[in-house]
Amino acid sequence: MDRMVPEQVGDWVLAELPRLNQAILREQASPGLLLTELEEHVLSCLPDVAQLSPSQAQQLIVLCGFVGASVARHYQEHTVGGTHHPEFAFGPLTVGGARIPFRAYFAALAEHTGTGHYQRDSYASLVRWNVGTVRVRLGEETMAEIPGVFDDRRIRSYTGTPGEERFFLLVKQGEVIELAVNELLAPLTRHRSSLICDKTRHSVRVATALLAELRRLLLDFAALPPEIGMPAEHFMDVFRQFAAHWTVNDIPPSGALDPEALKRDFLLGLAVENYDRQARRLFPALLDHERDELDELMDGPTLPQQLFDEIGVDEDELRFADDGDLRRLVAHHPALIDWYRLLAMHARVSGAHLMLSKKFLFKPQRQRDEAGLGDREVVSNRSGTTGMTEMFLERLTRARQDHSLAMLRPVLIAENVNGDAPAAVRSGRGAATPVSVELTG
Ligand code: HEM
Repeated sequence: MDRMVPEQVGDWVLAELPRLNQAILREQASPGLLLTELEEHVLSCLPDVAQLSPSQAQQLIVLCGFVGASVARHYQEHTVGGTHHPEFAFGPLTVGGARIPFRAYFAALAEHTGTGHYQRDSYASLVRWNVGTVRVRLGEETMAEIPGVFDDRRIRSYTGTPGEERFFLLVKQGEVIELAVNELLAPLTRHRSSLICDKTRHSVRVATALLAELRRLLLDFAALPPEIGMPAEHFMDVFRQFAAHWTVNDIPPSGALDPEALKRDFLLGLAVENYDRQARRLFPALLDHERDELDELMDGPTLPQQLFDEIGVDEDELRFADDGDLRRLVAHHPALIDWYRLLAMHARVSGAHLMLSKKFLFKPQRQRDEAGLGDREVVSNRSGTTGMTEMFLERLTRARQDHSLAMLRPVLIAENVNGDAPAAVRSGRGAATPVSVELTG
């Protein structure tokens, strides 16, 4: 921990906050105790924001984010009508001798990071900055790497359970794989490259293998035994409830704020009406560079549109082409097979994610509703934290399945080409280069 960020605060968030959160959830301690302990061990020793470097401010955003989420949740759970005025939770909290209100201190920290960070905890703070460096490699080659802002190899969480740490790690691993995919694909839109040349076909195949690895990670997480993964009850009743509002209309943290997933949708195209408006609604909770990159992608053509331009076919006409025409087109442009596989794997990742959302949230909540057990008051389990419903997630998955090259499916299946890709890329001689995703620091 950097010196300006008191070690005591970092240690407190790693060890004491999870203990207190657990004690309050088990009704062995009152939310008032959290406020008293915070005052004594954290708020009184937070440094003046102006003295911090941007990376120190990022560390404190992570730490204060966990503090704010805990205060918000317990207040709303213990106060009648608390969800209608969540900001009241922070009333008693002030920082340092100057008694700066907690949310004003948090906003100053956010400004000081220079990243355009939101005025509450976020996907970036909980996942990307909290978890250490994750690296994606193809054989010996590093394809993408995202550092965290701590160098202690620890993952901060609300209640210190391995399942929560594993969840944050899973999401960060997912993001780094997606970044590797986007770094292969995004330059193709910028440099007006050929989308059917050998070099591009290789990049597309690597991107497909990377997405296959992401899908495998999602499926493996679902298959973990509850003791080492995360039981659905913990996800619904413990973990998600910390995504409480800090102010009435703010945007709580969510996988929906994963910028690399949003970018991939705009690169590959997604036929969902107003999808760009939906994405822009999330902009306040993103970082400056994420907003800029998304803006640029939303304005440009998708890769499938560029591909159709290059091979001189009209997407609408293609939808009505017969099998013979489609077979001839594929024979003439075998790169279409690589692009088809990429789009199909993108859809399969979405399907695996949809399965996770059903397993950990939508199905168990339906069972609770059928049994008359109702919903949680602070964070509803009937939809995602930014309000996405099961139907909306299904719609997104269907739209990804119905991608721009979906009309080739029958022809390619008949020729034994499917959406499968191994989690490795084969060289000309057939040797497999495996994809690996490592937490390095
Ligand atoms: C157990 C694991 C997971 C569960 C239960 C889960 C659940 C959910 C839920 C309920 C939503 C709706 C969110 C909202 O309304 O804001 C959502 C959206 C989303 N999540 Fe996850 N998620 C999981 C893992 C992941 C991972 C690892 C990633 C990134 C690699 C991710 C990326 C996304 C994205 C991009 C969305 C937006 C919807 C979409 O584009 O399909 N999620 N997730």
